[in-house]
Amino acid sequence: ARDAVARRVTELVRLVPDYPQPGVLFRDITPLLADARAFADVVAAMASVAGQVDLVAGMEARGFLLAGPVATALGAGLVPVRKAGKLPGPTASATYALEYGEAEIEIHPATITPGARVLVVDDVLATGGTAAATVGLLRSCGADVVGLSFLVELAGLGGRAHLPGLSVDTVLTVD
Ligand code: PRP
Repeated sequence: ARDAVARRVTELVRLVPDYPQPGVLFRDITPLLADARAFADVVAAMASVAGQVDLVAGMEARGFLLAGPVATALGAGLVPVRKAGKLPGPTASATYALEYGEAEIEIHPATITPGARVLVVDDVLATGGTAAATVGLLRSCGADVVGLSFLVELAGLGGRAHLPGLSVDTVLTVD
C-alpha cells in the first residue's frame, strides 16, 4: 500500500527545473494537495510511522500543510515551527547555516510540556538543515523527539546524516 502511495506521489508532485533559481529542481506539491484521495492517503502514510505522540511539529510553510492533518490523524496537537519574526514572544529560536547565509526558526516553548512526545513533519528532506535545527530547538524546549516523517527525501543531499539516532521515514525517496 505504501508503494502505491509512493507511486501517486511520483505522479502528482510536479518537477519544475530552475525554480526558484537556476540549477534547482523544485518539487511542486500543489497537484498532490488538490487530489483528495492522494492527499488523504499521504497523510495516513505519514501518520502511520508514529505510535502515540502528544504533538506534531511542522515547518513553515509547506510543512504546515501536512503537519496539521497528520496531527489530527494521530490525535495530537500541532506546533508550528515558524521562520523568524512571525510569532509574538516569548519564543525560542535556532539558527542554522544555508548554502549562502543563515536561517532562523522559532517556536512557542510554552506549548511544549517537558517530555512531550513529538513527531516532526515536513514535505521535503533535502540537506537536513531545517530538520536538524527543528530537532535541536524542540529538544532545547524539553521535547522528546520520537521521529521525523517526510513526504519526499532527496537522498543525494545526505540529509539523514544530520539526524543521527532518529527514526526518519519518508513516503518517497529519490536520488
Ligand atoms: C523547504 C522544505 C523544507 C526545507 C528542506 O522549505 O519545505 O522545510 O526546505 O530543506 P533542507 O533539508 O535543505 O533544510 P523552504 O525553506 O523552501 O520553505 P517554504 O516551505 O516556506 O517554501
